[in-house]
Order: sequence, then C-alpha cells, then structure tokens
Amino acid sequence: MSGHSIRLRPVVEEDLAMFRRFATEPGLIGLDWTGFKDPQEPARRFATDSYLGAESSRLMVEVEEEQVAPGFVSWALRDFGGPTRHWEIGIALLPEWRGHGIGWRAQAMLCDYLFTHTPLQRIQAGTHAENIAEQKSLVKAGFQLEGVVRACEFRDGRWCDGYLYSRLRNDPSPL
Ligand SMILES: CC(C)(COP(=O)(O)OP(=O)(O)OC[C@H]1O[C@@H](n2cnc3c(N)ncnc32)[C@H](O)[C@@H]1OP(=O)(O)O)[C@@H](O)C(=O)NCCC(=O)NCCS
Repeated sequence: MSGHSIRLRPVVEEDLAMFRRFATEPGLIGLDWTGFKDPQEPARRFATDSYLGAESSRLMVEVEEEQVAPGFVSWALRDFGGPTRHWEIGIALLPEWRGHGIGWRAQAMLCDYLFTHTPLQRIQAGTHAENIAEQKSLVKAGFQLEGVVRACEFRDGRWCDGYLYSRLRNDPSPL
C-alpha cells in the first residue's frame, strides 16, 4: 500500500508534455502502445475543451504532497447498440510511479466521481491477459471480471483477447 495521498484534478497545459511522451515514446504507455500518434493532438484537444468533454474526458492523477502527476485517468461513453450508455475508463501511469498503490485508488476514485456526477449505472474497463497489474488493480477498485472478449484488439502484430471488467453503481466502493 502506498503512503502517497492522491487526488484527481483537471488537465493543465503543463500536462500536455506527458501526453506527447505517451504518444511518441514506444512502449511508455505499456501494452496499450499501438504505434506513433500525432504529438500535436493533445494541444488541439486541450484547446477544444481542456479534456473535459461530454463524450470523453481525462483527469490527472496527482500526488498531493509533492504536487506531481504520475499519470492520468480517462473515461468515454460507450453503448451496446441500444439507447443505454455506459462509461469505459482507462488509466496510464509513468513507469516510475507504478506498483505504489496509486493505480487502483485512482480508478476507484474515478468511479466514485462518475457515480456522483453522472446517473449512469455501469462502468467498464478492458485489459490484456498479460496485464496482471491492471487486473489486480481493477479488482481492488471494486470491479468484477465479466469474461474474455476474444480477438478484440490488434496489437503487436497479432489479434489478442481482452478481459472485460465492470463496476455497477450498487457495487461497494473500496474507498
Ligand atoms: C496498470 C496500472 C494502472 C496499475 O496501477 P499500479 O499503481 O501500478 O498498481 P497498484 O500499485 O495500485 O497495484 C494494484 C495491485 O496490483 C499488484 N501489482 C502491481 N504491479 C504489478 C505487477 N507488475 N505484477 C503483478 N502484480 C502487480 C499490486 O501488488 C496490487 O495487488 P495486491 O494489493 O494484491 O498486492 C499501472 O501499472 C500502469 O499505469 N501501467 C501502464 C498502463 C496500463 O497498463 N494501463 C492499463 C491499460 S488496460
């Protein structure tokens, strides 16, 4: 367990350098690396809505005592084809901040935030079969494994299965 006290806060301009690193440094983001992305895109998105949009958003994870940002959490609206929508969340921490108990707490905090400020019933998260840290992190954040989504993403030269997790509004918060 980490001794770090963390909070979620909006993105500021200084955070864009981290987003550019994740877009251009192979593998820095972990298994979600799918090739180079436009490094100018973060500045364009920030100029549009500061990463707080109706359909998708980001907040920075900040260590309060040091006022440094280890990474960010994200969420986006998804649906299964009908009128009902749910959130899908994501997270990326810089390598030096991983394994300190920050990831699971940041995702639990994000769920509490979304259930407080939006009426949606379901929050889901997908991860990779190899991503043990994220699998454990999601369970600690109150998620349950729903199943394996076969061949759902093309990554590193091959089609890969994904693990789908969810936390529902009435599931207990671990915080
Ligand atoms: C995945 C990620 C968010 C997890 O956050 P974290 O702060 O590193 O993880 P935590 O410290 O909160 O640990 C949560 C649990 O995972 C375990 N864990 C952490 N890193 C681990 C590792 N490399 N291997 C195995 N277990 C690990 C912890 O021990 C803890 O479980 P425990 O309480 O049973 O011991 C973070 O590592 C990260 O940003 N990785 C790169 C990006 C990424 O993979 N994002 C998710 C994409 S789906």
